[in-house]
Amino acid sequence: ASRDSLAGRRFVLTAGPTQEPLDPVRFLGNRSSGRMGFALAGALARAGADVDLVAGPVQLTTPPGVKRTDVQTAEEMLAAVLARLEGATGFIGVAAVADYRPVDVATHKIKKSDAVLELRLQPNPDILARVASDPRRPELVMGFAAETRDLETAARGKLAAKDLDLIAANRVGEGLAFDQPDNALEVFSADQCWTLPRQSKQLLAERLVDIIVETLDRHSTD
Ligand code: C5P
Repeated sequence: ASRDSLAGRRFVLTAGPTQEPLDPVRFLGNRSSGRMGFALAGALARAGADVDLVAGPVQLTTPPGVKRTDVQTAEEMLAAVLARLEGATGFIGVAAVADYRPVDVATHKIKKSDAVLELRLQPNPDILARVASDPRRPELVMGFAAETRDLETAARGKLAAKDLDLIAANRVGEGLAFDQPDNALEVFSADQCWTLPRQSKQLLAERLVDIIVETLDRHSTD
């Protein structure tokens, strides 16, 4: 994409993991590094977009030109996203949002004992699906899907179920994707697909911006 192909357009992105507290010192989390989301935020900014990045706990520096908001839990991430949705051209959910959170968060540190400890978990809101069904739905809503099998079927299923314009799918397991500098993606729209071979997340982000620009151009000529 050229330097100004997204000028005047604003994107809201989520990136990184969420952490769901169990007690004051413990949480449920995952291994997402946030690299893909941060790379995409930087590439969108380089293409001239205004970028609001809502980030879970990560150890990354904010790319130039990106406005960053830090959150911890899925519920905080949802609230931060909804507060920034009005007038956005695009929403891209890159975060590895925890599917569940503990029903009870202990006020004091949970004590060790010899007994079995059971955790009760309740579902978190699906931020991506929530945004796609919002009256303020941005023109372009894009998700990511990490799959261990049946990549295309699963990705196309999520594209339809969550009412997305684009989904970028990657194979996980066997040391792929999570917490790695490289990734390979297959991107699907309802009627197109793009194969992005293994490369750095920085380069993948540039290719994804091209696909996003192409998709917005198609919308405006349809
Ligand atoms: O259904 P699944 O979790 O595989 O979908 C992944 C996509 O949905 C990602 O884009 C992720 O950011 C988004 N997601 C979300 N909120 C959740 C779960 C997933 O935004 N609670």
